[in-house]
Amino acid sequence: MKSYMVTALALSVLIFGGCSSNDDLDSELLSLAEKYSLTGDPAADRNITSVNDPKAQLGMKLFYSKHLGLDMDSACASCHHPFLGGSDALSLPIGVEAVDPDHVGPGRLHKESGHYYDGGPTVPRNTPSTFNVALFDRTQFWDARIESITPVKGANGSVGQMLVPGSSDFDRVLWTSAQAANLPAAQANFPVTSSPEMRGFGHSSLVTKDDVRDYLVDRLGGFNGNSDLNGSARLAWLQAFRDGFSNPSADAATLITRSNIFNAIAEFERSQLFVDNPWNRYLKGDRSAISEEAKRGAYLFFRSYEEGGANCVQCHKGDFFTGEKLYVMAVPQIGRGKNHDASTEDYGRENVTLNESDRYKFRTPTLLNVEVTGPWGHDGAFVTLEAMVRHMLKPETALEFDENSLFQYGILAQCKDTKENTRHALQQLEANRNSGISPHRSVDFSDEQLRELVAFLKSLTDPCVKDRECLKKWVPDYDSNESKTLDLLQAKL
Ligand code: HEC
Ligand code: HEC
Repeated sequence: MKSYMVTALALSVLIFGGCSSNDDLDSELLSLAEKYSLTGDPAADRNITSVNDPKAQLGMKLFYSKHLGLDMDSACASCHHPFLGGSDALSLPIGVEAVDPDHVGPGRLHKESGHYYDGGPTVPRNTPSTFNVALFDRTQFWDARIESITPVKGANGSVGQMLVPGSSDFDRVLWTSAQAANLPAAQANFPVTSSPEMRGFGHSSLVTKDDVRDYLVDRLGGFNGNSDLNGSARLAWLQAFRDGFSNPSADAATLITRSNIFNAIAEFERSQLFVDNPWNRYLKGDRSAISEEAKRGAYLFFRSYEEGGANCVQCHKGDFFTGEKLYVMAVPQIGRGKNHDASTEDYGRENVTLNESDRYKFRTPTLLNVEVTGPWGHDGAFVTLEAMVRHMLKPETALEFDENSLFQYGILAQCKDTKENTRHALQQLEANRNSGISPHRSVDFSDEQLRELVAFLKSLTDPCVKDRECLKKWVPDYDSNESKTLDLLQAKL
């Protein structure tokens, strides 16, 4: 009898990695949740805008309107669509000069007559989701080139100052809430000035980023003799701004300003809160909200290396699953690259700080709704969540990366240096480990454990993000006269 019990215990340790029953697993997980101060409520103590708020409604129009693309062929929603996880389901995006500007997602192609045409995508980095941007307190972008230098928990960067790119790529300036109300508002100032995203390659008289922004203000308001839009479009914008700022008698010059445009866009993005997921219901007490497989995945995710875990939590921290810090993870490098030389490398954070020790560092992404935001990684190199998680467990596997797994049209043309670039990033990771800069350790894992981790990540999906009926509030009615007048993107999804 005694030896039978010992065997049974040993067996259960083998199967559950230390937890002999579902109840034990629950209590272990809850003590881990306590250790990491998880509440199940990522938006606690935050101001979250309702999508029905007038300013968010104005922001929605601006977010979908091609009038913010200098050549009127690209909108924020060209790459960030709610039906595609707040992103575009592409490894790498295409903004301006698409074959069909209203085509969003797989099948969006760069026009052959477009600038720098090579058959593949035009932007060097994967599109992150706009979902839950209200939860960032420190940074925006993969390389954190927008950052709050006075971060306050829950403030979304609205307090104090933000460091943002200046007129050139390597020059940084400080903005306060007078320039942009919060981190997403600051961020929204930049896609319109990026040539492949929204600016395009014409209008050579517009030299600086501010020239471009001012031009767009002139366009929407009809200021300084700008007549890009006809009278009815200008009237529709004036009406939209009057509604948005609940100021029915103010004139265009008062309402249609740079900060009003980008602050309104940010309010629309900040309304995209999707945090009602099974994991949070579990943390709040519903023990059956997630499967036993997902619980075992969580166990791996939160346990330290010493305890046989994968210690994902050391970087994917808190209820938002990111500490917003930057690390070298050596995700296989595909695409055109982003750097200060002529290579196809992406130097990541080094591009911002010009500090070589920041080479290949990228900001830890949130994992909320990660199931629907693929392809994954800063360049979308991984087209399955399994492959992405395998890499996180053991980045050395990047040496076996197979670019034929990629499905995006024309992307193979941008993979010729992938092996070499990836080797460089892996060397950097190894160097950072040896010098104590990188806390990451590779762990051996079974196929079953990989499945468990993926099951856990899928428990971070808010069901709304998979339900078009539920998402409808964040997508304008394309058939309305107003949508046509404001040239809102007609994504056929
Ligand atoms: C051509 C595709 C494209 C268009 C158009 C576009 N974006 Fe993006 N967006 C991206 C990519 C790519 C990144 C990441 C770039 C980087 O980190 O270097 C990004 C980053 C972001 C982020 C940062 C999210 C984070 O996790 O830090 C936000 C927010 C965002 N975009 C909102 C917008 C808004 C608002 C607009 C319109 C004004 C817009 N985007 C237009 C592709 C696009
Ligand atoms: C040392 C910090 C660190 C650790 C530990 C870590 N991650 Fe990450 N994770 C990152 C960074 C940084 C990225 C972005 C890397 C890139 O794209 O270049 C990332 C990206 C991801 C992504 C892709 C998300 C997206 O939107 O593209 C997933 C999924 C992920 N990690 C899951 C995990 C899991 C599961 C573990 C544990 C096995 C883990 N991570 C461990 C820092 C970390």
